Amino acid sequence: MNPVVIAIDGPAAAGKSTVAKLVAKKLGYTYVDTGAMYRAVTLYVLQKGADPKDENISCSFLPQIDIEVDEQDHVFLNQQDVTEEIRSRAVAENVSYIASYKKIRLFLVELQRKIAKNANVVMDGRDIGSYVVPDANVKIYQNASVKTRAKRRYDENISKGIACTYEEIEKEVKKRDYIDSHRSFAPLKKAKGAVEIDTSEMTIEEVVQRILEIVQEKSGVQK
Ligand code: CDP
Repeated sequence: MNPVVIAIDGPAAAGKSTVAKLVAKKLGYTYVDTGAMYRAVTLYVLQKGADPKDENISCSFLPQIDIEVDEQDHVFLNQQDVTEEIRSRAVAENVSYIASYKKIRLFLVELQRKIAKNANVVMDGRDIGSYVVPDANVKIYQNASVKTRAKRRYDENISKGIACTYEEIEKEVKKRDYIDSHRSFAPLKKAKGAVEIDTSEMTIEEVVQRILEIVQEKSGVQK
């Protein structure tokens, strides 16, 4: 039997990773953060002093890049643990350019599909249900208003000691939404058959509970 795939897509800072981790834990599945992979490539381009807006230069680094993720959600870029570094403002501001390049997407999608073939997964991202695993057992589109998402990301940054203002973060979230949903290859959109959850007025526990109910309805997977 093929492993189970639960795809959770949605715009920036909709709380996908928090919720996806908890759902994975409850079900005993592997959590896969595909955004972290795009962030790791972005970090590499920045480390090389190159401009992430330059598609040719950014894609030319691919043969030098090896990305791995482990069971504890650590991300390794050429064997270096970059779990913390990929959350920096510089990476957040540039990742959507990197994620719009087809060559880079194909490189990472191959890795994502390989992981999904070998284990039951909860995978979060922008194109999991629409492109990476279109036959996923369960597809969720997790959303929230721009204001809620910007506030969540602002609070998260402050708690991690990352300096920023709310206005900057709202601008960044809007810009990222625009680039993610307007790119030509595998843009952010609600996948066919996905159940949309607006989490603006929901607690994390409520969202987790709702997803577990959907998982049970759709696939008969036990909570
Ligand atoms: O955590 P947050 O919602 O801020 O973003 P993320 O999941 O870490 O993803 C960072 C960026 O990677 C997104 O804004 C997208 O540009 C890109 N991404 C993508 O294009 N496709 C995916 N499957 C995952 C992320």
